[in-house]
Amino acid sequence: MRHQHFVVAGLAIALTAVGARGAAAQDTIKVGLVMPMTGTVAAAGREAVDGAKLYMAQHGDTVAGKKIELIVRDDQSVPDNAKRLAQEMIVNDKVNFFGAGFTPSAMAMAPLATEGKIPTVVMISGTSVVTARSPYYVRTSFTLGQQSGIMADYAIKSGSKKAVMILSDWAPGAEAGKVFEQNFVKGGGHVLDTLKVPLANPDFSPFLQRAHDLQPDTLFVFVPAGEAGTFAKQFAERGMDKSGIKLVGPGDIVDDDDLPHAGDTLNGVVTAGFYSAAHPSTLNKQYVAAYQKATGHRANFISVGGYDGMHLIYEALKKTGGNTDANMVIAAMKGMKWESPRGPISIDPQTRDIVQNVYIRKVEMVNGEPWAIEFKTFPAVKDPLKEMAAK
Ligand code: PHB
Repeated sequence: MRHQHFVVAGLAIALTAVGARGAAAQDTIKVGLVMPMTGTVAAAGREAVDGAKLYMAQHGDTVAGKKIELIVRDDQSVPDNAKRLAQEMIVNDKVNFFGAGFTPSAMAMAPLATEGKIPTVVMISGTSVVTARSPYYVRTSFTLGQQSGIMADYAIKSGSKKAVMILSDWAPGAEAGKVFEQNFVKGGGHVLDTLKVPLANPDFSPFLQRAHDLQPDTLFVFVPAGEAGTFAKQFAERGMDKSGIKLVGPGDIVDDDDLPHAGDTLNGVVTAGFYSAAHPSTLNKQYVAAYQKATGHRANFISVGGYDGMHLIYEALKKTGGNTDANMVIAAMKGMKWESPRGPISIDPQTRDIVQNVYIRKVEMVNGEPWAIEFKTFPAVKDPLKEMAAK
């Protein structure tokens, strides 16, 4: 009898607790970011989170009458950790949204987002296939293909014929190389060799030597956020900046996070990228100034993925009236268009992938610091690998 009484009382307490949590959950919408805050791509995690936090600082933490709570968890650049953290955030934190980070982790947590019906904004990953991994994935970052195909076309037009590729050896590097080579060969060019550099602690020197020995007219390089500084240093140490070989690539190799420290080693380097801190719009000037003030450094291409990711969540919630049902949220996100610090962007309603301008930019000194100055715009570019797969 006594025992039963305890059980009933315990259950009542448990139900009260659930009720209280349920009510709280209705007033608070939780956004769980699973980001590489330490480890191999720590620079990217920091930038995406800084971008997301800046958006909230500028736009407040209340949307559609609900309080937005940001929860940031460090996956240490390890996909198994991302999976565990995503699981914990579904079960314990009861998050309503995920922000996914770099490619391996975004891939690892996709089945959990699907199973848990958690709308997820991919804020860092640049690999085409990621958004296809869950019907609840939507991207505000970029794809490497988006930039690399346009880079190849531009290189061909500028007279490039023989290229060597140096690629960070993981999924985004493979996609950058694949799309660059495809377009370069289609344009009559020839890829002499493809050199793959380990993602972790890369030493570019032997690869730069090999590239130099092959005597290409063009060197196409992809290194991820956080590695552009090391690359630029080793490129200059080998005297490659004076070799007459044209260095080209997606925007990652002239990352605005590293560019201010590159001296004149990257002067004249032409890239195809979707974001430059030098993008001359009023919105971007405000963004770069606010980001500088908040973090002490220059905004880069990763930061806008976090910033725009929060915008997408806020605007979707306005449309659903604060309802976090995954199907409603994703329907609200599809086709959304807005002005980002990078320029006009939208979410492709078919693929849930980002559509954005790609700019051809050249590194130039402005007031003593290097900046990637945009001089040609390719409007509303879709991910070419998805376009090809759809044909
Ligand atoms: C990715 O996770 O796909 C990624 C990360 C950093 C980059 C590019 C791609 O600079």
